Amino acid sequence: MDPILDKLGRPIRDLRISVTDRCNFRCTYCMPKEIFGDDYVFLPKSELLSFEEMERFARLFASLGVKKLRLTGGEPLMRRGLPDLIDKLTKIDGIEDIGLTTNGVLLGQYAQALYDAGLRRLNMSLDALDPDIFGEMNGRGIKPDLILKNIDRAKEIGFTIKVNMVVKKGVNESEILPMAAYFKERDITLRYIEFMDVGNDNGWSFESVVTKKEIYERLAAEYEMQTSEEEYFGEVAKRYRYVGTDAEVGFITSVSESFCSSCTRARLSSDGKLYTCLFASEGFDLRELIRSGLTDEELLAAITGVWERRADRYSDERTEQTVKNRKKINMSYIGG
Ligand code: GTP
Ligand code: 5AD
Ligand code: SF4
Ligand code: SF4
Repeated sequence: MDPILDKLGRPIRDLRISVTDRCNFRCTYCMPKEIFGDDYVFLPKSELLSFEEMERFARLFASLGVKKLRLTGGEPLMRRGLPDLIDKLTKIDGIEDIGLTTNGVLLGQYAQALYDAGLRRLNMSLDALDPDIFGEMNGRGIKPDLILKNIDRAKEIGFTIKVNMVVKKGVNESEILPMAAYFKERDITLRYIEFMDVGNDNGWSFESVVTKKEIYERLAAEYEMQTSEEEYFGEVAKRYRYVGTDAEVGFITSVSESFCSSCTRARLSSDGKLYTCLFASEGFDLRELIRSGLTDEELLAAITGVWERRADRYSDERTEQTVKNRKKINMSYIGG
């Protein structure tokens, strides 16, 4: 089958599947606890796609050119039985890579089962080594030691790990260099993420962003770095190697250097809506279609139609106005 292209000529290559909208953290930049409190209503089980439905969608997307799958949440390990889903997804023809994005709290429990089911890549979130700063940012007072222990454990098992650090001005800037030193030493790629205006609740403003340039300058004062090749077409992070080592560091620059022109990502929410941008307002309801008994051909036609109508390039167009006026889906709902 010819690859399908959107209105800006971008093929579909990656599918990010959110398996739950729940999370055991309340990161200030994603699920601030003032909004996601005890009375917050999450999706009921009946509204979530089953693993069989996710597998069927993954197979259909693979036939349209998707090669990479990423499981996200909320916190994906809060969905019971996740290794069973991994096992199903690894068997799909055309899928070359499966990754999981997790905060790592439950990894001590699940890492081995995930590996045994065929998962090899983990992206783990950690915003600080300082217990007070990290505890404050994750909104639950969780200490970094637990995450660091689970990173070591996952590495021992054999996973390839990247660590994601969201940098917020005046909150965890002091952790930029300590985090670099810690993960360089362990040969784990640390990626600094510019704080983004996802959702409508995280108090974002241009002033709260620490840009790649600022972070890079701090690192360059300490280390000599050299540009690394793109790992795959449209890779989100720009990576650099510390000269004289195999260790790398990366930057995800949605605010200061947008990367929409090579965005090949589709997103499926845990209740089966298809989104063609992280900053979208509306999704396309695939759950209704799959549950109404459509054939594979009919589902493929629907997905192709959505992709061929796609013209999203939110980060290219971000202004004070879009930040304020556009209604956006929550990050915890779509998984980043
Ligand atoms: P690999 O490159 O496969 O390791 O994964 P990834 O970096 O795409 O996935 P991950 O879930 O670790 O995401 C890292 C950060 O990049 C998160 O903050 C995501 O929200 C952000 N991100 C991923 N894709 C996009 C995108 O298409 N647009 C924007 N603006 N941000 C993205
Ligand atoms: N800006 C940037 N990154 C974010 N993440 C969550 N919310 C935001 C935000 N507002 C990150 C998480 C995780 C990844 C999936 O997205 O830290 O590493
Ligand atoms: Fe949970 Fe990840 Fe959002 Fe933090 S960023 S609240 S860990 S979903
Ligand atoms: Fe893709 Fe939207 Fe992110 Fe641009 S802002 S890279 S179109 S998800």
